[in-house]
Amino acid sequence: MGTTTVRTQVGIVGAGPAGLLLSHLLHLQRIESVVMETRSRAYCEGRVRAGVLEQGTVDLLIQSGVGERLQREGLKHDGIWLSFGGTRHFINMTELTGGKSITVYAQHEVITDLIKARLDAAGQILFGVQDVTIHDFGGDKSENPAPTIRFRQDGELFELRCDFIAGCDGSHGVCRPSIPDGVIKTYEKVYPFAWLGILAEAPPTSDELVYALHERGFALFSMRTPKITRLYLQCCPDENIANWPDERIWKELLLRLSSRNEGTHDAWVPATGAIIQKGITPMRSFVAEPMQFGRLFLAGDSAHIVPPTGAKGLNLAAADVQILAKGLAEFYSSGAKNTLNDYSRTCLRRVWKAQRFSWWMTTMLHRDEDASEFDHRRQLAELDYLIGSRAAMTSLAENYVGLPMD
Ligand code: PHB
Repeated sequence: MGTTTVRTQVGIVGAGPAGLLLSHLLHLQRIESVVMETRSRAYCEGRVRAGVLEQGTVDLLIQSGVGERLQREGLKHDGIWLSFGGTRHFINMTELTGGKSITVYAQHEVITDLIKARLDAAGQILFGVQDVTIHDFGGDKSENPAPTIRFRQDGELFELRCDFIAGCDGSHGVCRPSIPDGVIKTYEKVYPFAWLGILAEAPPTSDELVYALHERGFALFSMRTPKITRLYLQCCPDENIANWPDERIWKELLLRLSSRNEGTHDAWVPATGAIIQKGITPMRSFVAEPMQFGRLFLAGDSAHIVPPTGAKGLNLAAADVQILAKGLAEFYSSGAKNTLNDYSRTCLRRVWKAQRFSWWMTTMLHRDEDASEFDHRRQLAELDYLIGSRAAMTSLAENYVGLPMD
């Protein structure tokens, strides 16, 4: 059987938030793209991930016309609680940042909305493709062969020729490893803990998220809907989920999250209920530099991973593709390559700040078994300083709601 050759302007590998949002933003600029994804549509729309959207991400989704359900169903938040030493302390981010907030709206809902928007506009998303490989993306001149994505669909071989390839295929995708050795430098930090996350049929008992440092480790209270709570607790990176029956999870969560400060009448506890989903997420920080090689641009998790404590993953992906879409629009309208040439540098400045913030939140709020008692005392002092200093709280708040794009 022969190979069918197709053409598009931008070939996008991966139908996660980066790939789908890029395809959508390009469409608004009348730039054609094809998105390919090895998983099925149902898998992409059902995969449970984090769900905190920065103000800038929310604005981008609304302005680009995919924020209708987000505005209806997303839960807007003005601040977070920090719980330590048995007491909760509220940090009012909206007040500290001059009116900014974050919105809780699950990643798979963003994915669902983007897929619908693309398909409604007759956009091409190829689900369930196999054997994806990328070729000829190294050259930057018009006489070079066109960047090509080869793949198989229903047994048939295809070759997608394009002007540019966007590698939006996550940290284990094929795009980054296809770049020749020696071009990319990677930076990595692996943390000695993981998160055990659950979705529970329990109404959220706090309007705002609660981040807790307890002697037994970190815990986080979040939510999805007025009936569903999302909770996480720190566990070992090699933890077997089978060792965590529901009763053990609840016992540990209640121990770590409950505040017992009778003096302030704050005897807050999360409500319990049936656990409908559970999973373990390892925690690491990772950056690939540069995020571009020739006519291949990496975006989202294929270029960087953050530990979830700062709630930045999806937001970094959205920021990357916002810049990439701008650069491609400029190129197609005037031939100018300034924004495209600066893509990696522009993204990485913001990425490293998000790395710093995510690392800071992670190390402040988790117990490292190998650390000394000194370190734990230092963590508590850091939290105590934070809640007593408007300057420190403002620093947390402006990073949490999202730093400016440039
Ligand atoms: C979530 O709701 O899934 C969530 C919230 C805050 C985080 C991470 C995840 O820092």
